[in-house]
Amino acid sequence: MSVLGDLSAQFGAAFVTLGLEAADGEVAVSQRPELAQFQCNGALSAAKRAGRNPRELAEAVIDTLDDTARFAELSIAGPGFINITLTDEALAAFVEGIQAGGGVGLDPVPEPIGIIVDYGGPNVAKELHVGHLRPAVIGESLKRTLRALGNEVIGDVHLGDWGSPMGQLIVELEDRRSDLPYFDADFTGPYPTESPVTMADLNEMYPVAASKAEADAAFGERARRATAELQKGRPGYIALWTHFREVSVDAIKEVYDELGVSFDLWHGESTIAHRLDPLIDRLLANGVARHSRGAVVVDVALPDDKTEINPLLMAKSDGATLYTTWDVATIEDRVAEFDVAAMIYIVDERQSLHFEKVFRTARRAGVVGDDVLLEHAGNGTVNGPGGTPLKTRDGGTPLLRGLIDDAVARAAERLAENDLASEYSEEERAEIARLVGLAALKYGDLQNHRASDYIFDLDRFVSFEGRTGPYLLYSAVRMQSILRKSAEQGLEPGSIGPPAGEYDRNLMLALLRLPETVSRAAEHRAPNHIALYSYELAAEFSRFYEHCHILDEADTGRQASWLGLVELCLRELRFLLDLLVLEVPERM
Ligand code: ARG
Repeated sequence: MSVLGDLSAQFGAAFVTLGLEAADGEVAVSQRPELAQFQCNGALSAAKRAGRNPRELAEAVIDTLDDTARFAELSIAGPGFINITLTDEALAAFVEGIQAGGGVGLDPVPEPIGIIVDYGGPNVAKELHVGHLRPAVIGESLKRTLRALGNEVIGDVHLGDWGSPMGQLIVELEDRRSDLPYFDADFTGPYPTESPVTMADLNEMYPVAASKAEADAAFGERARRATAELQKGRPGYIALWTHFREVSVDAIKEVYDELGVSFDLWHGESTIAHRLDPLIDRLLANGVARHSRGAVVVDVALPDDKTEINPLLMAKSDGATLYTTWDVATIEDRVAEFDVAAMIYIVDERQSLHFEKVFRTARRAGVVGDDVLLEHAGNGTVNGPGGTPLKTRDGGTPLLRGLIDDAVARAAERLAENDLASEYSEEERAEIARLVGLAALKYGDLQNHRASDYIFDLDRFVSFEGRTGPYLLYSAVRMQSILRKSAEQGLEPGSIGPPAGEYDRNLMLALLRLPETVSRAAEHRAPNHIALYSYELAAEFSRFYEHCHILDEADTGRQASWLGLVELCLRELRFLLDLLVLEVPERM
């Protein structure tokens, strides 16, 4: 059990003895570390409920506890907060418990659930760009965090593969290569297995086709019709679209792979195509949906809405379905195919109204029960120095691949400046630069709250100083090298004993904060809690290492205990960095 869990149970029992509730005994890390290590604030609310004096009640709790082996000090602060300081022996026992357990002290959630995390959301025929960075790393981090807590988590990329760009591309290709069999409605197959286009072709065609569809009414109309026919399953179009999809998925996967982001499901908007007609028919039949000027809509407004919410459009008058329809049907599909109690969407905050309407429709339509959580955990934007969305020098949208390459190149420069990895082979140096650059990029993102926008400042991100990915990798590498060097001298980590002074004591306290931090990050869908804590742990380690001279220590018991502390700290840091999707090099 975590230290907070253990202390809370002990305090809870004391409150119960006094006729109050166990929940009042909740213990937290102290807000004022200079005064105490932990605190319990429950006497205030308990006293209020019971009509008693809070300081007297706090006093009574302290008297009830009477555990001098565990508590060095229990005192009352202010109106009735209980300040808690453990004895060094008790503190060490908690840390040693984690060390002996072989893990990081994290308890699985009492009731694990099935969760789908919907993140990524790239579109077919388009390269990943800066807008895909936040959902990718936040979603991946959240997936790993929820999994680490024992839940059954499925990551779904939810590929954008069914929208109007598909028809635009079909028509654009027809205009360029009318000889291909895909456009001949009388062709009976088989269609070529080789794709007629590469990712580069699609990338070039996509904006051309999109602007034509806007500027040229005839082209636009043909594209709309092609999209509708594709959605109805016209064989030639499906065959061509399958090529578009495969070529795109290969290219998209490559970049996600490089980022360390992976998905269990490569489902897309198209996955649920077979559900659309029955779903719409059902909603019309049971009165959830209605016809409106040829279209099918669902009223989703509620009396308490602060702003007016328009009806959700399920189908246009030409029968075409839309992004909203697919998301509603996807919920139905997930309920049918997987045993999940939650669907969490890491998608741009600016889509919040979309999700609100989709969720309301799904609930009203009985597509999903009240026992399933639907949550849009929106992400903020990556901005440039001016505070507006990041652009390339010529005003375009930066590609994710380019951002990665820049970060890696910058990391290589920083390594050279800091004279790191200089004596290793060129190949190893390049690999270290890759990991450092990626860490800079990902940590630069994850250290910000999920919903915040942030300013992309690669120079700051790649620094080895301060709260950065490179600093964290460097810290982990340093711990690895301390353990390696000490092993070379025949010194092995031993069981962790009581601290010698403030530096190893503070490191122990820092190590004990992991479970609560990870739970908080999961609960708020906010990896920045883990990012910040990792930094604090690394900084605490650095102070410890500066003041506790491990290799010179004459007391061999203490020396072994300190090495045990280094080993546990490395274990925890590596665990945390993995949750942040950062990979640690062997050495630097
Ligand atoms: N493809 C969408 C876009 O580019 C994002 C998809 C997000 N996921 C979802 N289930 N709607 O905006």
